[in-house]
Amino acid sequence: MIGQTISHYRILEKLGEGGMGMVYKAQDLKLDRPVAIKLLSAAAKENKERFVQEARIAAGLNHPNILNVYDIDEQEGKLFFVSEFISGETQRTRLVNLKSGDGVVLQQAIDWTLQVASGLKAAHEKDIVHRDIKPENIMLTRDGLLKIMDFGIARLKRGADSSDTDALSGTLAYMSPEQVQGLVEDLRTDIWSLWAWCFTRCSPVSCLSGPSMRQPGFT
Ligand SMILES: Nc1ncnc2c1ncn2[C@@H]1O[C@H](COP(=O)(O)OP(=O)(O)O)[C@@H](O)[C@H]1O
Ligand SMILES: [Mg+2]
Repeated sequence: MIGQTISHYRILEKLGEGGMGMVYKAQDLKLDRPVAIKLLSAAAKENKERFVQEARIAAGLNHPNILNVYDIDEQEGKLFFVSEFISGETQRTRLVNLKSGDGVVLQQAIDWTLQVASGLKAAHEKDIVHRDIKPENIMLTRDGLLKIMDFGIARLKRGADSSDTDALSGTLAYMSPEQVQGLVEDLRTDIWSLWAWCFTRCSPVSCLSGPSMRQPGFT
């Protein structure tokens, strides 16, 4: 893909890879600015609906702490969406750095938590539950702004009588008890993940690290 042009975006480099496909840095040749392109992989074609939903949900949220989605398109059978490019690092990288001895300033931990809480509030006000708040899905820009990304398993808040078909999507260390058990989830599931993330950031150990965490099939 590197060096190819898809629509009016020239693919420059790979930024990440996940369940649904690849994320690339690209140059928007019309507006002459860097962007990020998330491309649905051929292997994940059955997730097309969810992919489109991810783009729509993020595009419908206009908040400084949520990744800005610009466009979605399909070219030559390749479905992709375009978002702002974050020149920074994910919180996972920063977490590793902290554990290797940098320490964490409490004031910074509070600031980061409030930023993510602010982004989540905007989503929750539209009844959107993210369901996968974890370090890999939060990027830190060079200006110190945190951006929530990856609404891939997000959904609208459900009524008490709705059934659950993907209760075990997510990352176990940050999942709320109701999410793990496949019970009805609401906005509180994100608040649990936020505090699990906050604890993990301020402490050298994960808040959940017992033997059940090492069961196969969980990430
Ligand atoms: N807009 C972006 N700018 C820079 N890097 C990004 C951007 N979007 C994603 N990435 C990188 O790609 C990784 C995977 O993106 P993500 O949206 O979380 O995909 P997945 O659904 O595959 O987990 C992120 O952890 C991050 O490192
Ligand atoms: Mg992700």
